[in-house]
Amino acid sequence: MDFIDLKSQYAALRDNINARIQKVLDHGQYILGPEVKEMEAALAAYTGAKHCISVASGTEALLISLMALDLQPGDEVITSPFTFAATAEMIVLAGGVPVFVDIEADTANIDASLIEARITPRTKAIMPVSLYGQVADMDTINVIAQRHGLAVIEDAAQSFGATYRGRKSCNTSTFGCTSFFPSKPLGCYGDGGAIFTSDDALAQACREIRVHGQSQRYLHTRIGVGGRMDTLQCAVVLGKLDRFDWEVSERLRLGARYRQLLAPLQERGLRLLAVRDDRDCVWAQYTVFVPQREAVQAALKDAGIPTAVHYPRPLHQQPAYAKFCCPDCCEVSVAASQQVMSLPMSADLTEAQQDQVVAALAQALA
Ligand SMILES: Cc1ncc(COP(=O)(O)O)c(C=O)c1O
Repeated sequence: MDFIDLKSQYAALRDNINARIQKVLDHGQYILGPEVKEMEAALAAYTGAKHCISVASGTEALLISLMALDLQPGDEVITSPFTFAATAEMIVLAGGVPVFVDIEADTANIDASLIEARITPRTKAIMPVSLYGQVADMDTINVIAQRHGLAVIEDAAQSFGATYRGRKSCNTSTFGCTSFFPSKPLGCYGDGGAIFTSDDALAQACREIRVHGQSQRYLHTRIGVGGRMDTLQCAVVLGKLDRFDWEVSERLRLGARYRQLLAPLQERGLRLLAVRDDRDCVWAQYTVFVPQREAVQAALKDAGIPTAVHYPRPLHQQPAYAKFCCPDCCEVSVAASQQVMSLPMSADLTEAQQDQVVAALAQALA
């Protein structure tokens, strides 16, 4: 069994994706070709955001949004330590200082009630992460940000397609940044990402930063990066869009089915992630909390079930980020990092495979 089944997806979309790729090979506009604009228009319409700016990766999306905010050395950005390194990494690379705020124990997203206490005169932005595919508590965060004149960047690398209070992830704050890494809910066949915003000036800044800060050819108005997404990768995303609504609904259905099947195992120490009533979760990973994780993972491996850990150490306990927070801070993140385990998940996971995962987990926890 694959942890994420990309082969079945390709089998279902083969003609579509191949035709899209062939078209790019025929017209030969590999950089900023017509598929780039077409994908940006389609995704802006999908999310409801006014602008979509495609970029080289989810990491690049975070960096370019921070650069568009004109982050100055020493500016602080509040974020979660329980995330992939790129979140805090780009804050530091943009000259900022990550300020880590702990997560909610039940959703593993940033605890919005702890944010305001960490705001200082140097705070420039809040960067919540919509972890595992569930949007963070954006409205509460937006209200705090508004009160203090801060920007909000949703790290939506794992949540493209998710809905929050009737709005789509990536269209809930100043910026939404997503990733098209192959295993993400909407993936390409390499690296890719996008920034979403409804602010015209910030969108223009992002477009310029993406191409070395050029406002026109060889006129470098600001410092930028080489951050474009390849036309070929945009073609792959376009080739996947026809089936994307179905994929999202399958992810929701399979997530609900996992919950139902796994519920009895809570008696044996398993804990399930909470999904709030006002939003859904597209399950970029189907993550649960287990006791004795190593033993459980080993038992599942023996049964042919791949698992992964997202993430084994919160960032403030990583050597490169330790200076931004004391080691015994953010204890909920520390506890989560010791217990989380992700199970196989994708829109093409079959019910039979899911039953097999649940049976193996039941055995492992017996
Ligand atoms: C929460 C989070 N942020 C940022 C990224 C970076 O995205 P990319 O791999 O496309 O650079 C990822 C990807 O794994 C992620 O999970």
